[in-house]
Amino acid sequence: MDLSGHHFGPRRFLKPHTERLAAKRYENFDVAPLSPVLGAEVRGIDLRELDEQTFAELQDAFCAFKVLFFRDQGLTSEQHVTFAERWGELEDHPFLPAKEGDSRVIRFAKDDETVGVENQWHSDVSWREVPSLGSVLRAVEVPPVGGDTLFADMNAAYEGLPDDLKQRIDGAVAVHDFTQSFGAMMDAETRAERQKEYPPAHHPVVRTHPVTGAKILYVNRIFTSHIVGMDVAESDVLIERLCREASVPEYQCRFHWEKNSVAFWDNRAVQHYAASDYWPARRIMERATIIGERPV
Ligand code: SIN
Repeated sequence: MDLSGHHFGPRRFLKPHTERLAAKRYENFDVAPLSPVLGAEVRGIDLRELDEQTFAELQDAFCAFKVLFFRDQGLTSEQHVTFAERWGELEDHPFLPAKEGDSRVIRFAKDDETVGVENQWHSDVSWREVPSLGSVLRAVEVPPVGGDTLFADMNAAYEGLPDDLKQRIDGAVAVHDFTQSFGAMMDAETRAERQKEYPPAHHPVVRTHPVTGAKILYVNRIFTSHIVGMDVAESDVLIERLCREASVPEYQCRFHWEKNSVAFWDNRAVQHYAASDYWPARRIMERATIIGERPV
């Protein structure tokens, strides 16, 4: 019996999707899928030299696979930014440390004194009124073992929900707020000041991908505080139920980093989780975050 809806469900409803991905071919590069559902390593490409045709193919691959991986790119920080800027304007992150000299590059520097805390499923900056299109993450220094990043396909997560739950969240709106994560490290006065700049954002619980039209489950434990119009207990239970879906292995892929690897993910379609299993080793990553559009 299929009590959870997961034992047979993913295989059944994902079949057309996985068949479509398996048939994908490109003229200017090869794709090697990391899982049947999402994520592909793109081979035979140099991100410093993208002509228009290759870029158009990458746009297709990005929306199809939702997260693309590139090895041995050897990008400088400037080249990293140049690649990211081709997809749209980059944001400054008000709460995370930036690389010296460029406020658009977040530097995640972990070592024996700074443990990785990005080990919660989330979509980047969903607390913004206009969240991110995508993030480009570059490995500067990697631990000898561990430090992988996991990605979950939130369209698959939505499609796998039971029908009655889909009906229940149809039209529901959630509030996303930085205070429960970054805000927890501020004193009350600073937090109140920053909240004036970054007020809680209201987003649909199920957003529609602006390119593919796919329905995406868009709540996460770090930034989603509550669902509008529900009492706290009901809202907490529902958010927990929906967030659990990112943990279903059939919806995931997992990327093992090497120095000079690059990952580019669609924050409108996936959530990610950086495994914090490498302490006290060093892991240095840099991220450029592309501004997206207001979720609908
Ligand atoms: C992030 O959450 O953007 C960081 C992911 C990672 O360090 O792998």
